[in-house]
Amino acid sequence: MDRIKIVGGNKLNGVIPISGAKNAALPLMIASLLTDDTLTLENVPHLADVEQLIRILGNHGVDYSVNGRRERQDGAYSRTIHFTARNIVDTTAPYELVSRMRASFWVIGPLLARMGVATVSLPGGCAIGTRPVDLFIDGLRVLGADIEIENGYVKASAKGGLVGNRYTFPKISVGATHVLMMAATLAKGETILENAAQEPEVVNLADCLNAMGARVRGAGTPTITIEGVTSLSGARVRVIPDRIETGTYAMAVAMTGGDVILEGADGNLLSAALVTLGQAGAEISETNSGLRVVRNGHGIMPVDVTTQPFPGFPTDLQAQFMGLMTKAKGTSHITETIFENRFMHVQELARLGARISLSGQTAKIEGVERLKGAPVMATDLRASVSLVIAGLAAEGETTVNRVYHLDRGFERLEEKLTRCGAVVERISD
Ligand code: UD1
Repeated sequence: MDRIKIVGGNKLNGVIPISGAKNAALPLMIASLLTDDTLTLENVPHLADVEQLIRILGNHGVDYSVNGRRERQDGAYSRTIHFTARNIVDTTAPYELVSRMRASFWVIGPLLARMGVATVSLPGGCAIGTRPVDLFIDGLRVLGADIEIENGYVKASAKGGLVGNRYTFPKISVGATHVLMMAATLAKGETILENAAQEPEVVNLADCLNAMGARVRGAGTPTITIEGVTSLSGARVRVIPDRIETGTYAMAVAMTGGDVILEGADGNLLSAALVTLGQAGAEISETNSGLRVVRNGHGIMPVDVTTQPFPGFPTDLQAQFMGLMTKAKGTSHITETIFENRFMHVQELARLGARISLSGQTAKIEGVERLKGAPVMATDLRASVSLVIAGLAAEGETTVNRVYHLDRGFERLEEKLTRCGAVVERISD
C-alpha cells in the first residue's frame, strides 16, 4: 500500500495548477446515462473515483474514449472524455461497484428516468457518518416512482414514466438535488425542487443538462424548476475548477508561509473559505491566471468556523482548516454541522502534537508552537489531506499511510507540492 513521506519545514513558493472538480465531474459523467448521444466532458480530473465511476457506467453500457490527454507544461492533466450511452444494457448497479463510492448511487436518477426501472445497491463511500438515502427515495416517490428496498438494493420503477411534481427537501443534500434534477429532466410536466442544494457543482450539472436540451431554471438558488422534455441530446461541457482542491492548497500555503499562484482557481466558488483564511492571516488576491495566496512574517491567527451548505464554509475543508488551526496563535473552535462523524483526523493530528478536544460536534483547538513529524493514518479523503497540511509544517518526518484515500480526490498531490518546494515523496511497497 502506498505511503506519503513528508519532511516538514519548507515554505511553499510557485504555481499549483488546479484540476477539474471531482464533485462536479462525477454527476456530469452520470448525466451521460440520460441520452443515447455523446456527452463530451472537458477538464476531467485523473482520479481513482473518476476511474471507478467509468467502470460503473461501463457496466450499464456506457462507452467512453479519452482524448486531449495532453500533458501540459506544468504537469497537470486536462482530459477530455466522451461518454456514449447508446444502449443501456443493464439497469442494475451491483454492490461490488457501488459499495466503493457513494456517488455511484446517483445513477438511480437517470436510469429510472430513461429506462423506467433501476436497481441500485445501497451505497458505501467515506466513513463519515451514516449518510442515508431517504431523501433520494422520498423525492423519487414524489415523482411517481415505486420503490422497494430488498436485500440491500433499492428497486425503483416508473413504468409509465416519471411525472413532474413539487418536492421540498427536508434537509439540504447535494446528491439528492443532483439526482432529482436529472430524473425530472425526462419527467412529464414541471418539477419544482425547494430547499435544493446551491453548490457550484449543482449549477455545473444544470448547465450541462440545459446544453443537452433540458429546461432547468434556478440552479444555484434554493428553488430549481425543471420542465420535462421527451429526450436529451449530446453536448460538450467543461468541468468547473475544484474549489476544495483550491481551498486545500490555499490552507497549505497559509500553514507553511510562502507565495503561491493557484492557477485556474475561481475564488467565487469558495468565498466563505477565503474570507476565513484571510482572517487567519493569509493574503488572497485574484490574478489573471487564478488566485494568489501569500503568508509572510506574521503567524496564523485563530478563527472559529462552522460548516454549512454552500455558500457557507464547506465541510470538505473542515479537516484541512483544523490542520491549519493546530498552529494558530491561540484557541479556535470548529463546529461540524453536515456530517455527524467527521472528526477522525483529530486523533491523527494529535499524533503530530496538536492539542484538540472534542465536545459533541465542536472541536476546540489550542494552537501549539511546534508540531513534530510522526507516522499517521489517512481515514477519509479530506481528513488525509489535513494530515499532509500538518506534516508540511511539522518538524522532521511525517508518513501518511493509506494514501489511496488521497488518490480518490487529489490529482498528483505530491507532484504539485514538490514543485513548490515541499519535500513530499510517495513510497510504494
Ligand atoms: C456531497 C459531496 C461531499 C460533501 C457533501 C456535503 C460529492 C461526490 N460529494 O456528498 O464531498 O461533503 O456533498 O457538501 O459531491 N442525507 C440524508 N439523507 C439523504 C441524503 C443525505 O440524511 O438521503 C444527509 C447526509 O447524511 C449528510 C447531509 O445530508 O448529513 C448532507 O449530505 P449530502 O449533501 O447528500 O452529501 P453527498 O451528496 O453525499
